[in-house]
Amino acid sequence: MMEANYQDRIPNNVDLGSNRTLQRALEHWQPEFLNWWHGLGPSDFNAAEVYLRTAISVDTKGWATFDYVKMPEYRWGIFLAEPGADRRIGFGDNLGQPVWQQMPGEHRSTLRRLIVTQGDTEPASVEQQRLLGHTAPSLYDLRNLFQVNVEEGRHLWAMVYLLHAYFGRDGREEAEELLERHSGDADKPRILSTFNEPISDWLSFYMFTYFTDRDGKFQLKSLAESSFDPLSRTCRFMLTEEAHHMFVGDTGIGRVIKRTIEVMKELGTDDPVAVRKAGAIDLPTVQRYLNFWFSSSLDLFGGDSSSNAASYFANGLKGRPDEERYEDHLATETGYALDLPDGKGGVRQEQIPMRNAMNEVVRESYVRDCEKGLARWNKLLEDAGYPDRMVLPSPRFRRTVGSWANIPTDTMGKPIGSEEFAARQTEWLPTENDRAYVRSLMKGVFERGKMAGWIAPPERGINAKPTDFEYVLFH
Ligand SMILES: [Fe+2]
Ligand SMILES: [Fe+2]
Repeated sequence: MMEANYQDRIPNNVDLGSNRTLQRALEHWQPEFLNWWHGLGPSDFNAAEVYLRTAISVDTKGWATFDYVKMPEYRWGIFLAEPGADRRIGFGDNLGQPVWQQMPGEHRSTLRRLIVTQGDTEPASVEQQRLLGHTAPSLYDLRNLFQVNVEEGRHLWAMVYLLHAYFGRDGREEAEELLERHSGDADKPRILSTFNEPISDWLSFYMFTYFTDRDGKFQLKSLAESSFDPLSRTCRFMLTEEAHHMFVGDTGIGRVIKRTIEVMKELGTDDPVAVRKAGAIDLPTVQRYLNFWFSSSLDLFGGDSSSNAASYFANGLKGRPDEERYEDHLATETGYALDLPDGKGGVRQEQIPMRNAMNEVVRESYVRDCEKGLARWNKLLEDAGYPDRMVLPSPRFRRTVGSWANIPTDTMGKPIGSEEFAARQTEWLPTENDRAYVRSLMKGVFERGKMAGWIAPPERGINAKPTDFEYVLFH
């Protein structure tokens, strides 16, 4: 295996030193990246020492070393998972042929688009989260936020490496533009709308890391199946980092609910007004945030019937997550029954070719994956003797992409009139009042071992450190 070379300005396991042109191009991009980090990253905390993990190699021992690091000094490196021996194309028309080490000309622009779209989400989320540090509920959470931020920065590096290494001049231009678009910018927004939503409170942050980073997991898993081997290897290594981001969301939402249960027990009531008075987040508000971020994240999978998805699959560019779990890797003979609005307030089914339904297939496995967290959170409610349960709304609810885009439905997915939809917004989605209340709770807690009152402490610390460890040092 290739050891990472930390003497290099850009740590890497791709033998960057042997390609001077590529190395120089990336060394030219590096200060632009740092400029972006200083301008649009969590820049108010640049002097703090944060207990971070850094990837120094891709094997199990080396990919996660922990130490105090000032964020601008984090070693953003380029790491690809080890190549598989004799890896073969796992799906589509070229099934069984050797994977590609070089860029096939006919798929160049499509692959560039896929890489740019993935790459754009990485710095976008850092921009969305850049002010959250000020209101962290504890040093533990502050450290987790920054861990997510530096790793999203590294994911940007991963995509920029591919653009520079395989796409020549237009790849370099795309790499520059990844730093020029900004989340929420009126003129140059990020490509996908979820990544232009502000994340101004920690409940949104946990929802984002649970639901939106999980979309990231499924996109990366689809790209990890790609016949273009450098993309596959890049995404496989990114997935090891992504797991922690979803853990932050999963445990974050669980801790919010746990604290709310404690407060409801103390008060002897689940009345939302009383719960708020006691400084916790009432369950209906948690559910409304969940409805918002889940429905927004579903849109990221694209249209439910998609000729693009069909051609990505046919050409072996983007597969299904864990493609080997499927029996049929051609998907030419089968169909998929899609539920569509019938235009008369009801639902009709239409049979479409399986390849055209790939976005929907991936979205379905995403929904199943999302349910696991809900089962854990609901177990807390059940064990505490409360009848309330968190529920995922129907995937038809509040969609802006696909056949259900702008079709008003209730949270069960039943089509309803737009007047009813408008009237019930406050029941289903965070209101201005909800957001103002949640924001009013957001006050930074930076004292060692202390925790904000609206969230329970974590079960355990990071890297076997105690939960009251000094995860961030201020000087
Ligand atoms: Fe990422
Ligand atoms: Fe992530």
